Amino acid sequence: MRKPLVAANWKMNKNLNEVLDFAGEFSRKLPHGSVAKVDIVICPAFTHLAALTANSVLPGGVVVGGQDSHWEEKGAFTGCISPVMLKDLRVRYVIVGHSERRQYFSESSNMLAGKLTATLKAGLIPIFCVGEKLEERQTGRTFKVLEEQMTEALQFVPKELASDSSRFILAYEPVWAIGTGQNATPGQAQEAHKHLRGLLAWLWGAETAGQIRILYGGSVTPDNFAAIMACPDVDGGLVGGASLDAERFVKLIEIAAAR
Ligand code: PGA
Repeated sequence: MRKPLVAANWKMNKNLNEVLDFAGEFSRKLPHGSVAKVDIVICPAFTHLAALTANSVLPGGVVVGGQDSHWEEKGAFTGCISPVMLKDLRVRYVIVGHSERRQYFSESSNMLAGKLTATLKAGLIPIFCVGEKLEERQTGRTFKVLEEQMTEALQFVPKELASDSSRFILAYEPVWAIGTGQNATPGQAQEAHKHLRGLLAWLWGAETAGQIRILYGGSVTPDNFAAIMACPDVDGGLVGGASLDAERFVKLIEIAAAR
């Protein structure tokens, strides 16, 4: 049985006061015992990681993640943050290959392979994002795009690092569903997740593939999440907009816990 995971991707949102307000409200509203049922990850801006990992700011067991990290441990890379630096801040997860990084920062599969490797080497858990654009879906290329994104990045990640099923998370995020209010239907999500699990099996074997958690992301809300979570190959959510509000984020966690 794969334990559900719900991750908040706050992107470039919230100032420090808003982060602390969220943490206070979230701590009050999160039902006791939630972390036993659901892994909960919050990915704020880098500048707010330390505030969230300070003692007792978040409920016990709720962990934080980075939204990105570099492929080197250190060096002349102005403006960048390495996985080792994130680890110093008690970060546990790193989002790798979000479509906004691919689109606005031209992140290639080669770069993502490096980021995945560096993240795993630092002992952090990557949340590796893949997903097709609208035009790719409309021209029937969804599976092909997923295959390319998976193999192009993962073939360069040392197998012994990535294939530990508890230390690797995949996220299916159709680009056309991100921030648009148009989520994938449960049927579309299940079909893509099943295909991704097949690709994982091809890469790392059926047993490992059966244990790796695959999150759905793209306009998840408390209204549509239960139906998506009911899909057999969906193991949680990577949530942008709806995670910015503590009450809505708690609702999503409750839905995942009820599965
Ligand atoms: P959204 O973003 O929930 O606002 O669509 C999801 C994501 O980008 O991870």
